[in-house]
Amino acid sequence: MKTIAIIGAMPSELADIRNMLGKAEIKHISGFDFHVNEYKGNKIVNSCCGIAKVNAALCTQVMIDNFSPDCVINTGVAGGMDKSVKVCDIVISTEVLPHDLDPHFLNDYPPYCAVFKADERLIETAEKICSENGIKSHRGRIVSGEAFVSDSVLKAKIQADFSPHAVDMESAAVGHACFLNSMPYVSVRCISDNADDDGAMSFDEFEKIAAKRVAEIVLKMTELF
Ligand code: ADE
Repeated sequence: MKTIAIIGAMPSELADIRNMLGKAEIKHISGFDFHVNEYKGNKIVNSCCGIAKVNAALCTQVMIDNFSPDCVINTGVAGGMDKSVKVCDIVISTEVLPHDLDPHFLNDYPPYCAVFKADERLIETAEKICSENGIKSHRGRIVSGEAFVSDSVLKAKIQADFSPHAVDMESAAVGHACFLNSMPYVSVRCISDNADDDGAMSFDEFEKIAAKRVAEIVLKMTELF
């Protein structure tokens, strides 16, 4: 039996997964709730980490220390950054990094790595599920920062600096924590908005649809692990 960790930021990003998994055993550790289920021969542990990188890094570390998962899947919604990425598409991380920290601080000091590579097998699994279900997916870089990007000027700057496919507020921290623990991870995100001047309105409209879509993909991924 494998143990698969699933981390989402907001309750709404885990609600559909929890509904599909049914009644869980809940463990409270270090301020986080970990929902533990057996599902199709694997143990699934999911946790709502809260928004932004500190929450995500802490939750990932507590998850790894207490449940020794075989992999970590970060899920939820994101803002589209590449022109090819449309609302409701899926972006599967090839790598993650912060967009609000000069990479030099991570490259030239511990952990001497500023870009955290996702696991190829997890990427392929996510891609396979999307293509089998007729869902448009993109492989690409996801960047994270301490702000919801809903400003075309900031979006253009992040695009120019990092060429990401998507922006969120947690993936880089999950990837960073997984890197420090040699833990395979991937971030699978459904696009809820285009991170531009209409971003907040689009988020309100599409967040629930996007969260449900990615929840179904992530749960199917666990069956192939
Ligand atoms: N999550 C979903 N949309 C986002 C955005 N535009 N910026 C940051 N995080 C997001």
